[in-house]
Amino acid sequence: MSKPLLIAGNANISLAQEIADHLGLQLCEAKIRRFGDGEVSVYIERTVRGHDAYIIQPTCTPVNDHLMELLLMTDALKRASVNQITAVVPYFGYARQDRKHIGRVPISAKLVANLIQTSGADRMLTLDLHAGQIQGFFDIPVDNLRADPIFAQHFKKLKNNPDVVVTAPDIGGVKRARQLAERLNLSLAIVEKRRQWEDEKTEVMSVIGNVEGKKVLIVDDIIASGGTIINATNALLEGGAKEVWCACTHAVFTDTALEKLKASPLKKVVVTNSIPSLPDEAPLVERISIGPLFAKTIQRVGQGESVSELFPHD
Ligand code: R5P
Repeated sequence: MSKPLLIAGNANISLAQEIADHLGLQLCEAKIRRFGDGEVSVYIERTVRGHDAYIIQPTCTPVNDHLMELLLMTDALKRASVNQITAVVPYFGYARQDRKHIGRVPISAKLVANLIQTSGADRMLTLDLHAGQIQGFFDIPVDNLRADPIFAQHFKKLKNNPDVVVTAPDIGGVKRARQLAERLNLSLAIVEKRRQWEDEKTEVMSVIGNVEGKKVLIVDDIIASGGTIINATNALLEGGAKEVWCACTHAVFTDTALEKLKASPLKKVVVTNSIPSLPDEAPLVERISIGPLFAKTIQRVGQGESVSELFPHD
């Protein structure tokens, strides 16, 4: 079997390099540039015939450019006779547009899934999809990896501590929070939120569960504007929490999110490197790496081994 080929778009080159280092591979030389009018241009600089290719490209901001890079890299590889293409998309942009919640709106996540497939991807690797059902938008295999084992490892000192409560910042996040709570043997609380979708504003309703005098760890998949986390933090502190931390997979951090998080009462925000870090985010924001997880998964996919074995106790 020929060596796997790892190719990085511009979205998260440091993560791609880290994955390559873990696998003892070099990133495949490719030129991904912009023409003067903004069109994306892709040139794979070596032969790829017969190889299994892994394109590492989260579709984070600028989302449309990074998505287009992914599609064009896939097309270029396909036309250059690779064996199999795996789109490694640790953060899947458009995932929050996954249903018609009112009339006359697209199901954008489905369209993006169609585009990735049509461009020639044979398989997808991703992480903490906003809604697990998005896997069904693809007719190719999708491995939706999870960050909770990595967070559990990071927060292992909190295990069995009765003074710590894991919290979901909204009803939709209960399953995710429960998974981490179970791994750490901690109790669970929920902040009930109602979202006004038009302008991304959120409204915190109430805290379900006992957080009085506790250290609280909010778990979420995405921080975008920061509104959800900050509103949840305020509700928890009003509910008597002693301090609030947050563990979140995808640090989307739109506009002034980082400034707002810094000005909030949050003690610490622990995120993964699915999206590249921002300058000046430390010490509030701490990054933990998903590089080893993706390297192991790529290895297993290449060797035809189980991926679910990476997530024991499910
Ligand atoms: C909502 O369902 C998601 O899980 C996140 O809580 C949400 O997307 C975060 O967005 P923001 O930071 O803008 O409130």
